[in-house]
Amino acid sequence: MKMYSMLFGLVAFGLTQGALAQEPIVIKFSHVVATDTPKGKAAEFFKKRAEELTQGKVKVEVYPNSQLYKDKEEMEALQLGAVQMLAPSLAKFGPLGVKEFEVFDLPFIFDGYADLHKVTQGSIGAAILKKLEPKGIVGLGFWDNGFKSFSANTPIRMPADLKAKKMRIQSSKVLEEQMRTLGALPQVMAFSEVYQALQTGVVDGTENPHSNLYTQKMFEVQKHVAVTDHGYLGYAVIVNKKFWDGLPADIRGQVDTAMKEATNYANTIAKEVNDEALDGVRKSGKTEVYVLKPEERLAFKKALVPVHRKMEGRIGRELIESIYKETAFDPSKL
Ligand code: LMR
Repeated sequence: MKMYSMLFGLVAFGLTQGALAQEPIVIKFSHVVATDTPKGKAAEFFKKRAEELTQGKVKVEVYPNSQLYKDKEEMEALQLGAVQMLAPSLAKFGPLGVKEFEVFDLPFIFDGYADLHKVTQGSIGAAILKKLEPKGIVGLGFWDNGFKSFSANTPIRMPADLKAKKMRIQSSKVLEEQMRTLGALPQVMAFSEVYQALQTGVVDGTENPHSNLYTQKMFEVQKHVAVTDHGYLGYAVIVNKKFWDGLPADIRGQVDTAMKEATNYANTIAKEVNDEALDGVRKSGKTEVYVLKPEERLAFKKALVPVHRKMEGRIGRELIESIYKETAFDPSKL
């Protein structure tokens, strides 16, 4: 009987140890958009692949829609280690003191995804991500959303149509300058607050890719959307450096592979998800969608490209010119 209970004890001890050894490493991944967006879908894809490749040794918990943290709080939470992974928009890194990220906000700097990928998937992008390390953050890759449209309750055809409008922006000095250049009044606001601010008239309009405009239902409170493609909105996927460096090497390698796959997935689906969202806005019948004529778009381009020069002091002339070189953009030839 004694022997029996000792054996039982040993088995129970073994089971506990086994359970402890199998306790998964949890990656909390917080973001502010809906699941049905390029970022939301890519985060789910990453979760699936990271859990598969590590055979359950890693568990990824995705918290969408500002459920856990809003824009500013999520950056702080990452640095404190309260969450391990985020994918903030590139317009939200300035407050961390890494101003180079705002180069992506320069209006009309990329003529489409192909131009953009030369930068985000090349050496310039890698060098920008490296700048995060002294902040205790590792940049794992760039995920696309898409090109922004302006929206408001009055038609937008020409730059002057945004004059004196209160426009919600993300926390970027470049976006602030962009709106001022148009004669608009920029208002920095967390993403989770935009719908209500539009609804109550705290702001008159905003800018976002169609996937955000659609999934946050902003179109329900904006009568006009102008497809301008005047600027890019994308993300850097970032992880707390201490957490990342502390992962066992084999697991870190598997998670990194999952991230590479998710990056590829995000950048493959982004355009289609945005196109579908624009269709959804059109079909709602609540908003007039207007695609700018080439001469109207050119007027916006001429008005806004001077923002590049104005922001040189903040972002760095060399960086801006290295992008011009990569994408063969010549601002003097407008
Ligand atoms: C915004 O604040 O408009 C965007 O950065 C939201 C997002 O993450 O796409």
